[in-house]
Amino acid sequence: MSAALSTDPTLTQRLGRRPAIWLRDNCRCTECRDPRNGQKLFGITDLPAQPVVLDARLDGADVIVDFAPEHRGVYPLTWLDAIERGTTDDGRTESGKVLWEAADLDGRLPTASWQRYLDEPSERLRVLQSVRELGFALLQDVPTVSRAVLDVAATFGYVRTTNYGDLFDVRVEANPNNLAFTSSRITPHTDNPYRDPVPTIQLLHCLQNAAVGGDSGLVDGFRAAALLRAEQPEAFAVLTSTPVPFQFADADTVLLAERPMIDVDGHGRIREVRFNNRSIQPMLLPAEQIVAFYDAYRAFAELIDRPELCLNFRLQPGDCLIFDNVRLLHARTAYAESGARHLQGCYADLDSLYSAEAVLRANLGVRAKVTS
Ligand code: OGA
Ligand code: ZN
Ligand code: ZN
Repeated sequence: MSAALSTDPTLTQRLGRRPAIWLRDNCRCTECRDPRNGQKLFGITDLPAQPVVLDARLDGADVIVDFAPEHRGVYPLTWLDAIERGTTDDGRTESGKVLWEAADLDGRLPTASWQRYLDEPSERLRVLQSVRELGFALLQDVPTVSRAVLDVAATFGYVRTTNYGDLFDVRVEANPNNLAFTSSRITPHTDNPYRDPVPTIQLLHCLQNAAVGGDSGLVDGFRAAALLRAEQPEAFAVLTSTPVPFQFADADTVLLAERPMIDVDGHGRIREVRFNNRSIQPMLLPAEQIVAFYDAYRAFAELIDRPELCLNFRLQPGDCLIFDNVRLLHARTAYAESGARHLQGCYADLDSLYSAEAVLRANLGVRAKVTS
């Protein structure tokens, strides 16, 4: 670094943390970024591999940096401030979420009335934040009319149409292509692990629930995975590293995805859970890996089945559950086949829900909660 830079201790401190290549790549000048949209106008190979900072100085509200061999960089102080306060956390991993067990939510279910959710941006923000932090929210008094679930999804994103249609009816069918469309018990699972990308949000809207049975359950899969990591780290390591084949097939559709049950990011943080006993396929791995996998799979399943993890409740007509399908597992008890139970579900994605949350937060002038 130059003498000019070292005479300004604040500037030295601010820039000193950033290697020259980082500064060069993040130059804010109009040659480097299109001022209309902030998008970068060059690729990494257009830059020298080892730029050198020759000089850095304050010029009004900008820091100017001269690089050898080729550029004069410009960095507004407001931008440097924002970078120092900011985070690149995309909100998808366990960090920044509130992991829970059933008792943590006792009497404190994240609910909101549909009308208030529509009318009050702060209420909408609270609901979307709850989906990000707790993994779900329950809207109440959504009109019990067919296809209303699509209106709910449209408030924060885009419906993901699949082979099941834009929405699917969850009720007893004569020739079910999925056990969801019977009256059987369904144990805790995430939906559609045989798809890649998997739908990251699921909605279930209750139109009718007069059957005996048919109660709902939710398990925080991140909590279960974190417990597995703490209690049986070798099982956790197996489930984060073993690709598991999941498949769905009927006359019109064949879907296959091979992904681990627990996905971690580059820092080792839990990011996604896929768990579905109905669609798991035969593992084709060396024998000792299969045995290790089954031990780990069983350990995770036993943990998921711990009664204290499962939040039990009953959907009422008009309830619409919005949940993170790569984190929470959902379940239902069996119900009397003669009973009238009808849900409509659809899929959407977390990226647009997070976007809707961020835009609401900015418009309302609410600072993001600082999470660890
Ligand atoms: C589903 C499902 C649960 C229920 O449709 O994916 O798991 O409560 N349904 O019927
Ligand atoms: Zn530049
Ligand atoms: Zn399901």
